[in-house]
Amino acid sequence: MRVLGIESSCDESGIAVVEDGRQIVAHALASQADLHNRFGGVVPEIASRQHLTSFPALLKDMMSDGPQALGIEAVAVTYGPGLAGSLLVGLNFAKALAFSWDLPLLGVHHLEGHLYANWIEDGQWDDEHKGDPPSPSVALIVSGGHTDLVLINGHGDYRLLGRTRDDAVGEGFDKVARMLGLGFPGGPPVEQAATHSHDPVSFPRPRIRDSRDFSFSGLKSAVLRAVEERGGTDRLSTGQVHDLAAGFQQAAIEVLATRLRDAAKDYGAKAVILSGGVAANGALRREVLARVPLPLWCPRPSLCTDNGVMIAAGAHFLLEAGARHGFDLEVDPSLPMVAT
Ligand code: KG4
Ligand code: ZN
Repeated sequence: MRVLGIESSCDESGIAVVEDGRQIVAHALASQADLHNRFGGVVPEIASRQHLTSFPALLKDMMSDGPQALGIEAVAVTYGPGLAGSLLVGLNFAKALAFSWDLPLLGVHHLEGHLYANWIEDGQWDDEHKGDPPSPSVALIVSGGHTDLVLINGHGDYRLLGRTRDDAVGEGFDKVARMLGLGFPGGPPVEQAATHSHDPVSFPRPRIRDSRDFSFSGLKSAVLRAVEERGGTDRLSTGQVHDLAAGFQQAAIEVLATRLRDAAKDYGAKAVILSGGVAANGALRREVLARVPLPLWCPRPSLCTDNGVMIAAGAHFLLEAGARHGFDLEVDPSLPMVAT
């Protein structure tokens, strides 16, 4: 089955056609990062307006040979969680297409979409593991808004094992980048700065006792104090920026990797899965490979950050299980992936 996937939960307009949840047929993405960069974060009003102009252009490019040529059989769209205005643009676009083409419509949870980037054939960072991830597995879904540890027992069968109690780890990267005078989004420049460090600053590893939950606000405050001790953002030398970035990154990824290892062991996982924008971080991936003695599924960086492919891929498995939505589907900015 060929599914058209639409993603607009934050600042990327993504659209793609995926066959059987695994093969990319067509894929287009319009990033708004440059528009938001000068504000140091995503401006929701700008994001939704931009989605409005991006989607028709992206679709037109993708469909140069007409919609029949792509053989689309269903339309899938992210309906939460995310920015309400941005989600609305994607959902209405999807409804219009499903209505005019007389195709089934399906809303997909954004994080479930992130997970399904791992089902894309040739979509992995390396080609060590081909095919679908095995069950049970433990997934670490790390994005700008979420840090979730999820036990996967099969399609749609999830159990939330842990989550952040405050900042998401991606949010941590973004805030630290801002403190260090690096751009937005913060993950890529922090990762890049860290590679030049000779003497990473030592920060505490945040751990909550007797829980699989995460907390990153203390680490963020420790970085802020270290920046202030060095005279503030504008006074940092390039070397200090590198060492602070590396210290933060190391503390964050160590906590993520050890939590993932412990959960995988306790639940008898056959594999571990990384997904979400922060999974594009090479140091995180190496840390997990070094610490977790199980096969690792991790999408290549361009499929870790938001895109339409992951939504179309996830939708395939949900549609196969009989899921459908009506045209009364609404956006849900705080949609939970797993009922708690
Ligand atoms: O999944 P995503 O594209 O959007 C959300 O669902 O939030 O994730 C975006 C987050 C941002 O916080 C961004 O800084 C982070 O992913 N990110 C990274 C890297 N690339 C993107 N964090 C660390 N290292 C990276 N290379
Ligand atoms: Zn995302």
